[in-house]
Amino acid sequence: MNNSESTASLIQAFQGAGQGQVFRYFDELDGDGQAQLLAQAATIDLAEVDALVAEHINGEHSSSVDLDGLTPAPYTALPANGGDQAQWDAAVEAGSAAITAGRVAAFTVAGGQGTRLGYDGPKGTYPVTPVSQKTLFQVFAEKIARSGERFGVTIPWFILTSEINNDATVAAFKESDFFGINADSVHFIMQGLVPAVDYSGKILLAEKSKIAMTPDGHGGSLRALVRSGAVAKMEELGVDCVSYFQVDNPIIQCIDPAFIGFHVLGQSELSSKMVPKAYALEKVGHFCMQDDAALVVEYSDMPDAMQEQTNADGSIRFNGGSVAIHIFDRAFIARAGSTTSDLQLPFHRADKKIPYVGADGVIVTPEAANGVKFEMFVFDALPLAKNPVIIEAAREDDFSPVKNAEGVDSPKSCKRDQLRMFVRWLRAAGEEIETDESGVPSTWFEICHLFAADEADFVAQWAALADRPAIVEGLIIE
Ligand code: UTP
Repeated sequence: MNNSESTASLIQAFQGAGQGQVFRYFDELDGDGQAQLLAQAATIDLAEVDALVAEHINGEHSSSVDLDGLTPAPYTALPANGGDQAQWDAAVEAGSAAITAGRVAAFTVAGGQGTRLGYDGPKGTYPVTPVSQKTLFQVFAEKIARSGERFGVTIPWFILTSEINNDATVAAFKESDFFGINADSVHFIMQGLVPAVDYSGKILLAEKSKIAMTPDGHGGSLRALVRSGAVAKMEELGVDCVSYFQVDNPIIQCIDPAFIGFHVLGQSELSSKMVPKAYALEKVGHFCMQDDAALVVEYSDMPDAMQEQTNADGSIRFNGGSVAIHIFDRAFIARAGSTTSDLQLPFHRADKKIPYVGADGVIVTPEAANGVKFEMFVFDALPLAKNPVIIEAAREDDFSPVKNAEGVDSPKSCKRDQLRMFVRWLRAAGEEIETDESGVPSTWFEICHLFAADEADFVAQWAALADRPAIVEGLIIE
């Protein structure tokens, strides 16, 4: 097929699918504009759009979740909260063996748009540490490098980007010389985009030469891993445990031996960390069971009365908060991310204000929601997984995301959480330091993650130091 034939057949396919409006202004565009529109249109799976419109726009689809028979999901408690210390020790041992054997990769999802933070650039390039203002990507790079050094391996790092931020992300890594880690061990994967539609199910144009498209959600990471060849690369490297975390959470233990150990020992396809909810109506997903399958039910899908239910001892019944920290089995990703498999993540509908090119060719910025974006959520993989394992994590050791510019989950709250964590590590190593009543030190200092990736690592590293520095304002322990 020559160029003009393939252009004609693409336009015909859109017309045949009732989406011919995408090419309404095609004849007005210059060569570049036409090429851009055609290239974008060629990435769209019209059958998928058709199915989404049939289900979410024209269908009877209701977003409400079936709450029948929902019970709290069981989990393995931390030793500090009644868990069995010997079981945790065995998990650390099994996890350490898996890391040493090169079976573990890190996987950061960084394809989101980060609109709430209002930062112009990929979120991973946002400075987060309290003293040296290292970026999120640098924090992860240092933790992954240190874990590799500790276990004598190079830990591959897969990073999900989207078309919207991929170039800027790759450029940031190059400018920083990959934060000192081997560039060959870092793999960027672009997630897919899905077109936005209006309430008649018609694909919207953002500009005359540009379709309104958004990333397909963190759930899209699974099919991106398959499509990009990353899963095949993992297999070639001997990796079968994929440590999944979000780009906005610098507190995360990127490579956690205990978590990996529970995953391996449980022969789990998908393991998750839960943190007890801070209060009954905290806006997190809830780990639940239904018909013998584990699942996450979003706070928005669970009635307040249910979120507030208590056990006989007064504790919160649905207490397991989801913090988007998982270990995936590689073969499970291959199945859940393949377009031909029976395991498919569902799309969710989000009603949004979507700027679009109106009938007169002028861009309209709507005041109210005028259309729908479609996203997949990674936790929807949970009911599809065999032997799901859920372990408890201490919030302060694993979760302090940077989501908002101010207030809760902001750069300020995250810096304070990092400072509190550094204090706990120092105290665990036998040092004393003055803090306010919330645990923030009066002297701000930082622990470089090339020195220690987690508390146990810090305690060992500190003990081995010949010259221990005095904790003074601005100190970086490295
Ligand atoms: P959020 O749900 O917080 O979305 O993503 P966001 O896009 O980062 O931020 P807002 O809502 O626009 O303010 C949670 C994690 O999932 C990743 C994000 O990069 C973040 O690490 N994500 C989200 C993707 O990788 N792809 C997506 O399509 C959506």
